[in-house]
Order: sequence, then C-alpha cells, then structure tokens
Amino acid sequence: MDKKFYVTTPIYYVNDKPHIGHAYTTILADVLARFHRSAGDKTFFLTGTDEHGQKVQRAAEKNNLGCQQHCDETVVRFQELWKTLGMTHDRFIRTTDAFHKEVVQKVLQDLFDRDLIYKAEYTGWYCVGCERFFTEKDLVDGKCPDCGRDVNEIVESNYFFRMSKYQDWLIKYIEEHPDFILPKFRANETLGFLRRPLEDLCISRPKSRLAWGIELPFDKDYVCYVWFDALLNYVSGVGYLQNEEDFKKWWPASCQLIGKDILTTHTVYWPTMLKAMDLPLPKTIFAHGWWLTGKTKMSKSLGNVVNPMDMIQRCGVDAFRYFLLAEMSPGSDASFTEEAFINRYNTDLANDLGNLASRALKMAVRNCNGVIPRPGNMQSEDTALLAMADAALVKMEESLANLALDKGIAAVLDVVRAGNRYFDAAAPWTLAKNGETERLNTVIYTVAEAMRRVAVLLDPVMPGKMKELRDMLGMDPELPATMESLHSKENVLSGRSVIDRGGLFMRIQLEDAAAEKGKKAGKKAEKPVNVVAPEELIDISEFAKVKLKTARVLTAERVEGADKLLKLSIEVGAEKRPLVAGVAQYYTPEEMVGKTIVIVANLKPAVIRGVESCGMLLAAKAGKRLALVTVEGDMPSGASIG
Ligand code: MSP
Repeated sequence: MDKKFYVTTPIYYVNDKPHIGHAYTTILADVLARFHRSAGDKTFFLTGTDEHGQKVQRAAEKNNLGCQQHCDETVVRFQELWKTLGMTHDRFIRTTDAFHKEVVQKVLQDLFDRDLIYKAEYTGWYCVGCERFFTEKDLVDGKCPDCGRDVNEIVESNYFFRMSKYQDWLIKYIEEHPDFILPKFRANETLGFLRRPLEDLCISRPKSRLAWGIELPFDKDYVCYVWFDALLNYVSGVGYLQNEEDFKKWWPASCQLIGKDILTTHTVYWPTMLKAMDLPLPKTIFAHGWWLTGKTKMSKSLGNVVNPMDMIQRCGVDAFRYFLLAEMSPGSDASFTEEAFINRYNTDLANDLGNLASRALKMAVRNCNGVIPRPGNMQSEDTALLAMADAALVKMEESLANLALDKGIAAVLDVVRAGNRYFDAAAPWTLAKNGETERLNTVIYTVAEAMRRVAVLLDPVMPGKMKELRDMLGMDPELPATMESLHSKENVLSGRSVIDRGGLFMRIQLEDAAAEKGKKAGKKAEKPVNVVAPEELIDISEFAKVKLKTARVLTAERVEGADKLLKLSIEVGAEKRPLVAGVAQYYTPEEMVGKTIVIVANLKPAVIRGVESCGMLLAAKAGKRLALVTVEGDMPSGASIG
C-alpha cells in the first residue's frame, strides 16, 4: 500500500442541507482514511464546501440573506453532520476562506500572464441548475444535456482558459494511466466525450450577471467561474502557493472521490488545469454511482430525499455507515429503502455479529470466570476459522486498493457467519456440562480471537461499536486497532477479562406499515428469531439467586467527569444505600428523584468512578432508547419482585 495517502471528497454546495449522497462520499473517504492510518500510511483527508456561484446566490436570495451570511449559516449543517458521523477529516475547506481566494487569484493571474487565459466574445447556452455553458450542438432537444432543463442564450465578453490545446495530451494520458479514472467504464465515458473537439473553457462571469464569486485579479468587472474556483480547493487545501513543504508532502492526491454526475469537470477540466499549472495529476479519480430512493432518482421536487439524521436516530451512526458501505458496489447505483436498511441491519449486525459476540462473551463469563482462557491443542476446525479471518484481511486489503469496500466487508461477515456455525457445531455448553475443560477453553479462545480480528477489520467502518466490542473482549479500547496487529500470530487475548454488556446491536422491528406492505406484496414475513439461544437457558434455582426489590430514589446527582453516570441515594424498605446508575444521558437528576424503581438488591457492592454502589437498577434498552423498569400502582420500597 502507498505510504502516503491523500483523499478528497467533492466540496458540497451550501445551497441546501446535506443528504445521503453527500454523506456516502464523505463516509467512504473517512473509511479509506481510517484504513490507511491503521496501515501506518501518512494520511490527509480533505473535505469542505463550495460557496460561490449562482446556486448559492439564489439560495441566499430566497432566504433573504446576504451571500456570506447564508454560507456561514448553511455550512454548519455539513460540519455538524460530519461531527455526528464521526468524520476524521484533517481539514474542512470553504471556498470563501481568504487563503483559498488568494490561491485562486494567483493561479488566474499566472495563467493570464502566460496567455493561457484570454478574452473573447462568447455566445452560449447557460444552464442555471448545472452552472454550465453549452454550445448549440451540446444541447439535447434544445435543453440542457445533463439535467434536461431549459437553457438561456447568453452573448457576452468573457475570459477563456485554453483547454482545447490539451485535448490530445489528455487522451494519451488517460490511455496510458489505467488507474487515473476508475471504474474503468468511466474512463471510457470520458474518452467518448473527448472524441469531439474540446473547446476552451469559459472561466469568468460578468459581475453584472453574477456578483458572488472570486474577482478576477486582472479585470474587476468579472468573477471566476465557480467550477474553476472550486476544483482548486484540492491543491489550496494542502498548501499550494502558501506552504510548499506541505504541498510537496501531499500532492498529487492518491484518491479523489466524486459522484458520477461530476465526471467531466473532474476528468477533463481538472487535469487540463493541472497541466497548465505544471502540476502532476492525481493518481486516481474514482466516480461512484448514485443513491436512489427505491428505483427513483432522489430529488427535492419528488420529496424522496433521504435525510441521514432520520436513519441515525433510528439505528445509530455505526449501523448507518455500515449500511452505506456494505450496500453500494463501486461504480454502480444503489437503492435506499428503509426495509432494505432494517433487513441488512437485523441480519448482518443483530443476528450475526451481535449474536456471536454475545454468545462468546456469555460462555467466557459463565465458564471461565470472565477471563479468556489459554487454548489447548488447536483442531482443524479451530485453525480453519482463524484462517478465514486471515483471508478476510487479505480481501479487505485488496478491496481497499480497488475501492470495492463492499467485498472486503462481505468477507468479514463471512467470518462472523462461519463463527456462529463453528460455535453451534462445537456446542461449548455441552463441553462445559461434560467437564471437557481443555476443549471448551480452545473453543472460547478461538471465537474470541475471531471476534477480535473482526473488531479490527471493521473498525474504520464502525469505529464506535468496534471499540465497544474490543472493550468487551478486554482489549484496551483506546489503543488504535491497527491492521498491523492482525499480521502477528501472537496470542494477545488469553488472560484478558471480558465484560458482557449485552446487546451490541439490538434488533429493530420494521414499522407495522412496512411489514404490512411486504405481506401484501407477497413477501415472506420476517422469520422470528429466538430471544434466547439454547446455551443461555437457566433453571429457576439460578434465577432465585437474584433478589429484585423496589426502591425509592431520594436524591440524585451527576458523577463528576462521567457524563453517563448518576449517583443516587435510594431507600429500600428501612435501609438507605448509594447506587450508581448509567442513566444520565436519558434522565436528569430531577426526573429521578421520587421514582420507585426496581433494583438487584443482592449485588456485591462495587466502586464505580470512585463512588460506592450497592445494587443495580433495571432499565429496558432498545437501540438508543432507555426506560426505567418501574412497578404499577403505589408499592412501598423494599417490596420483593419475583
Ligand atoms: N460543488 C460541486 C462539487 C465541486 S467539487 C470541486 C457539487 N456539489 S453537490 O453538493 O451538488 O454534489 C456533491 C456530490 O454529491 C457530487 O459528487 C454528487 O454526485 C453527490 N451526490 C449528489 N446526490 C447524490 C446521490 N443521490 N447519490 C450519491 N451521490 C450524489 O457537485
């Protein structure tokens, strides 16, 4: 793998709120950046916003705001969403940043001085939606060839970049560099476009028509065409003409991610601009497909745009990231439906991954005092499972190189499914009953080791949940989960104390309406899954050991330095005791006081964050929701429950 990795996303227009298409590209870039960091590569991840041009000016006018104020207000939506989604970009560039404007002006002046930009009268057809000029022969039935909307005829003096002179060079470059435009069929599309004569590019707009842009340094009556300004973010964002040392370190970019709709600007305008600037071209421009709603293009006018926040609230950030990456194959379009989302979540994450983790941890807690045992002699089925995990690492590395992350993820999920089958076949609960301790230890170790590898391989995709999983396996969750660690055969697990926190991924039910729709369409209803696996069944005497009681909350306060914890003082009959509960993100101290709750009264006291806790309160948890278990009617504290 490259030792340096510089990845970019398109910069997004600040004319509306971000949607799932924007989220996808940025998550893909984030996952690539995380993988490369974990492989030890020096990595830089750039994203940002495109803030000039007619689209933004119109949006500002519609909102009755000045353009800059509109940008300042809208950019926050992107920045906040990226924060929620756990993006690890190294820089967020805005094209209204002063340093960027300065770079654009320097480039324009230099090209003008070298006669690569000239002034001429121009007649063209302009599409406001696409912000692009077309010649008469470009039009399809008199409409914009890209979006099909009406175009306006415009005659005016403008400045032009001598793009045409690079046509032959560009064709040759694309033909000689098979990795420059990926997937390959997109390179063919660009070559098809280049079969017609390439014209010079109009890079100015008269201020009389559009004032919101970067002023041309050699003519104050014009601003720069928004695409010419925007594309330069990829070099200004890493120090071009400001910090040459940084720039040399990062440029040329390793991977520039774009959507298929902006192929021409990135594979024709951008390389010819770089050539004129005497700069090398990026190694790869990768054009992904579109997210469709069902089978239809997402569009505001159809009202079918998927808002990432809705899905995140429903199932959490990690599952959202996982779905987008697992579902889309490189280059092709993908379809988003709530049903597909929930089905994949329930199958891959709740049933397969969550289930394996929970079974392995429970066995370790119950049979090995919560410590991962040292394995005995490994048998062929044990080594086969770990060999599959090794193969998944190779697959993941390959899929990173050709940006087919869905394939790498599928290979990891194959390991998870094989892990569940291995567990069923090895039946550790029977081994425990028969006292076959050595074999039991080997099975528990093998599953835990497979889980550890899964937790590292999927860490860039689901950083939050995989950290949680490593924590449950007794690994230090703060230590980076490096790919490097998977190349070693060292046993790093035996002797570690596991924590079974349960429910890594809780199943979600399809909305009744959606289930109903499925039934009508003749689809099979979802198969009910067992709430409890056979090995988890306990007999009544085991349950009788747990003393559940009602308790009244007398006081409640936050635990300093722990945003999830509340310190309660509770009354259990005649007794008063302290209890620390992880409910601070769901209940305020004020809401807790006066409640009659249910506690495990015979839990050994523990000290949590320096605070003594005697007992544990019960609460129901589903996804991101939590509700306290309480009793009906007016029960006194100290009442037994059973
Ligand atoms: N500002 C330009 C990019 C300039 S880069 C120098 C732009 N902005 S955009 O906000 O309209 O789109 C940004 C990206 O989002 C594009 O790559 C576009 O393909 C992508 N998507 C917009 N809708 C999409 C889907 N429905 N699905 C997937 N990606 C899509 O273009």
